[in-house]
Amino acid sequence: MNPRTKKPRMVVTGAGGMVGSYVNGIFKNHDLVLTDRIEGFDYLDVRDPSAVMNFMETNQPDVVLHLAAATDVDGCEVEPDLAFHANAIGTQNVALACQAHGGILVYVSTAGVFGGGNPDPYTEFDTPEPANVYGRSKLAGEVTVERLLQRYYIVRAGWMIGGGHRDKKFVGKIGQLMTTGTSPLRVVSDKEGSPTYAKDLLACINRLLDTGYFGLYHMANQGRCSRYDVALETRDLLGLSEVKIEPVSSASFPLPAPRARSEAMRNLKLELLGLNIMRPWREALRDYVIKELAPVLDIKD
Ligand SMILES: NC(=O)c1ccc[n+]([C@@H]2O[C@H](COP(=O)([O-])OP(=O)(O)OC[C@H]3O[C@@H](n4cnc5c(N)ncnc54)[C@H](OP(=O)(O)O)[C@@H]3O)[C@@H](O)[C@H]2O)c1
Repeated sequence: MNPRTKKPRMVVTGAGGMVGSYVNGIFKNHDLVLTDRIEGFDYLDVRDPSAVMNFMETNQPDVVLHLAAATDVDGCEVEPDLAFHANAIGTQNVALACQAHGGILVYVSTAGVFGGGNPDPYTEFDTPEPANVYGRSKLAGEVTVERLLQRYYIVRAGWMIGGGHRDKKFVGKIGQLMTTGTSPLRVVSDKEGSPTYAKDLLACINRLLDTGYFGLYHMANQGRCSRYDVALETRDLLGLSEVKIEPVSSASFPLPAPRARSEAMRNLKLELLGLNIMRPWREALRDYVIKELAPVLDIKD
């Protein structure tokens, strides 16, 4: 607790990324210390064990929101050592620092820990079986957190939506392509997941933090869809009906990292605890595209 503001102190790693862009807006009830490796943030590379330990000793956080990660799925496949360094060792460093200094750890993990064979959306009670290096490295982070700590939340998110000008993911890319007049756009329709608006994710984490119900949670917007479905919806929300979108098989886009057929998730534990405030994915996408993406793409109503 910061004695001056009387707010719990939260250290955020990787705060310069897509999810981090919503931290200031959502965690107003915390005294925030934002870290990353870029200008404008307190410098902290989570791969450096003594730097992480010293930082937590100096700042004495009540909560650590650990977002820092190597998130380029294909990059992780090509350079697995870099993936395990940032995602497994980095998470171990943060968990050890929480163990030493007492902060609650919130580790944001991924639906990419699942292998894709389930006909139904994955719940917290299904067994992870990652299809690629990124998923294995994030799962290694989960295992370390579970072994080292008692006061933690592991929160698995789905296909992330958000970021506005920092959006380097699917919705941001496809929106850019649509505004440059690329048509037809060919979009994969044989893989499915659960979109997750980063703003909703952080609001749900903030609520969960109040409960003290530590453990593993799925936290995606409700429902399942393909990238093709997301592209169609984004096009309609942007009012770009002239852009044609064709469904194609993932075999048309060979990539270094294999993808699971389905990463769709259900927030079963949040549902059972009456804490599932994650709305349906179409509502979340609408909010994001209209309020944040359209202005960045310079599209007026
Ligand atoms: N994006 C998704 O679709 C998705 C889905 C599910 C879960 N997640 C998880 O959600 C969390 C936040 O993801 P995001 O979408 O906000 O990713 P992001 O935009 O890539 O942000 C991650 C941030 O961490 C930084 N970072 C990377 N390595 C670091 C290190 N060694 N030390 C300190 N900072 C480091 C990155 O810097 P650089 O850009 O310079 O590397 C970036 O600013 C991650 O843990 C990710 O695994 C993401």
